[in-house]
Amino acid sequence: MKLLVTGGAGFVGSNFIRYWLREHPSDRIANVDRLTYAGNLRNLEGLPDRHELVCQDISDPTVETYMEGVDAVVHFAAESHVDRSIDSSEVFLQTNVIGTQRLLEAARRKRVSRFVHVSTDEVYGALGDSGEFSEDTPLRPNSPYAASKAGADLLARSYFKTYDFPVIITRACNNYGPYQHPEKLIPLMTTNALEGLPLPVYGKGAQIREWIHVTDHCRALEAVVQRGRPGEIYNIGTGCRLSNLAIVQMILQLLEKPASLIQFVTDRPGHDFRYALDSSKARRELQWEPQIQLETGLQQTIRWYRENRSWIEAVKGPSYQQYYSRMYQNRGKDLSSN
Ligand code: NAD
Ligand code: TYD
Repeated sequence: MKLLVTGGAGFVGSNFIRYWLREHPSDRIANVDRLTYAGNLRNLEGLPDRHELVCQDISDPTVETYMEGVDAVVHFAAESHVDRSIDSSEVFLQTNVIGTQRLLEAARRKRVSRFVHVSTDEVYGALGDSGEFSEDTPLRPNSPYAASKAGADLLARSYFKTYDFPVIITRACNNYGPYQHPEKLIPLMTTNALEGLPLPVYGKGAQIREWIHVTDHCRALEAVVQRGRPGEIYNIGTGCRLSNLAIVQMILQLLEKPASLIQFVTDRPGHDFRYALDSSKARRELQWEPQIQLETGLQQTIRWYRENRSWIEAVKGPSYQQYYSRMYQNRGKDLSSN
């Protein structure tokens, strides 16, 4: 089988490529990635020759040439960080909406027989103290990131309805694991704690997220490529839901670092309170089950960050430091010592 993966130099995409090539020793993957700030060649180190990096924007018309002989497209490429979308949203529309439309169009013209559009639970908006999102929950995205992903989901749906193009949409909860950029909660808190720096928890840390280990997400996507039904949407979650403060406390405990490192800072505007997914459809129809418990997965993840200091140092270079001071220095408390 030949896959075309987009965004494979990022966090979930690189884990997916590693997973797929290990599990499918005769398959090949073309990886279309523009290598933005979030794309990292070090995430691709050690991959076999069956992986080919195509350093290209997904909006570029030449991407169509790489669809030749491709059995399935798995589309990860996106601008993926909520805080950056609040800071400046245009690139989110460019990549997540226009880029997805261009990619859908290229794949349709090349008659690709399966297109997996990797989306997120954030398209549903936010929940209060109770309830779960099902695949039929109306889309009520709250951040520019979530709105751009919802736009992409609707385009993907329209390609199925209008052209009978075999698109499948997946909506996963928050992922964690190795190779995640330290702009996101778990690697940011882990790497700051390792350096003895403050851990900036937004608001009171009461917001709730559902967490999945990236390998469990990759297994679900494998099942979608193999057994998903065109035109369908699958929520991919674990039911493992925790407040941000609880996660940060777990990280500190695992690292044997003091709780005094926690600093409560100004909340994110429009901060979604709670995400919770009903993933029974994926379990039932794809015969998929998450396998990695949060405590085990978090231990492994923290070990990976401990053992990969040079990866962290490279990612937390000058442009990350600039990003960090821009985003955090005016958040109520002085974190500019980072
Ligand atoms: P990431 O930011 O780590 O990686 C994104 C990758 O896409 C990078 O390699 C980047 O270089 C590439 N890219 C960005 N714009 C591009 C463009 N115009 N053309 C080509 N490549 C481009 O993101 P991630 O966390 O790995 O997320 C991957 C996908 O999974 C996204 O679509 C995201 O919405 C979805 N998702 C992520 C999570 C999560 O918790 N990380 C949860 C649910 C869904
Ligand atoms: P994040 O990893 O950015 O994922 P998302 O916003 O897509 O869910 O954030 C996860 C949660 O952690 C979210 O509720 C915001 C919170 N958060 C902090 O409290 N401090 C931080 O420095 C970051 C990056 C996130």
